[in-house]
Amino acid sequence: MPDFQNTLDFARAQDASDPLRAFRDEFHFPQKDGQPVIYFTGNSLGLQPKGAAAALKQELDDWATFGVEGHMKAKHPWYSYHEELTAMTARLIGAKESEVVVMNQLTSNLHFLMVSFYQPNGKRRKILTEQRPFPSDTYAFASQISFHGGDSDKDLIEVQPRAGEYTLRTEDIIARINELGDELALVCFGGVNFYTGQAFDMAAITKAAHAVGAYAGYDLAHAAGNLHLKLHEWNADFAAWCTYKYLNSGPGSVAGAVA
Ligand SMILES: Cc1ncc(COP(=O)(O)O)c(C=O)c1O
Repeated sequence: MPDFQNTLDFARAQDASDPLRAFRDEFHFPQKDGQPVIYFTGNSLGLQPKGAAAALKQELDDWATFGVEGHMKAKHPWYSYHEELTAMTARLIGAKESEVVVMNQLTSNLHFLMVSFYQPNGKRRKILTEQRPFPSDTYAFASQISFHGGDSDKDLIEVQPRAGEYTLRTEDIIARINELGDELALVCFGGVNFYTGQAFDMAAITKAAHAVGAYAGYDLAHAAGNLHLKLHEWNADFAAWCTYKYLNSGPGSVAGAVA
């Protein structure tokens, strides 16, 4: 990797030598004034692959041809659609095939996973997350806490950056985990924070959580398809992610879970 230079020439040279460059042609780009826009919001909604329309038409045709029997007879049978996605999903997340499933939506998966992995008991009730998690995650944590009779003002804790800093230091996250110790039931972080773009050290966070007897889970919305993930090796207890950002599956598309 050459040293970064903040120039147009450098950016163009990097583009020219990018081995993934050809994939740009696989996507539709929105147009502005007759020109394709420079699209920096794949972290919100990935662009539409040019193959999407044909893939959708295949499903509509199978529905028209088979009706209910499409569950078994469609080219990609709907009854077992998730099985076709298992191997690629396991590779994407760095987990075993027996650990992953494609289903539901991110937030519903997070709830399902917390049903198993957030079971407050005695003084062990707290959930630790990063500063400014995605708003719907905050609501999911708070509703799980109140479902168990807790108070999210006390039991939901965000790790804050040091004064004058915007991202979190791993050593500070670990120190907070150790400080909370046996009051900590769950550490649940984004793999990448949606606001700052900070990627967290999931192996170190998981290890620290386990050392105090807490579970460790992740929201991989901004990490899946973006980072090389090794959820199994990192020993994470669970994670959930959506597929409409860096995985370009389209709005409302089915999400993933690993445990
Ligand atoms: C980090 C993060 N978590 C959770 C969500 C919510 O996901 P969903 O509404 O698909 O459940 C999003 C959506 O953008 C997100 O970016």
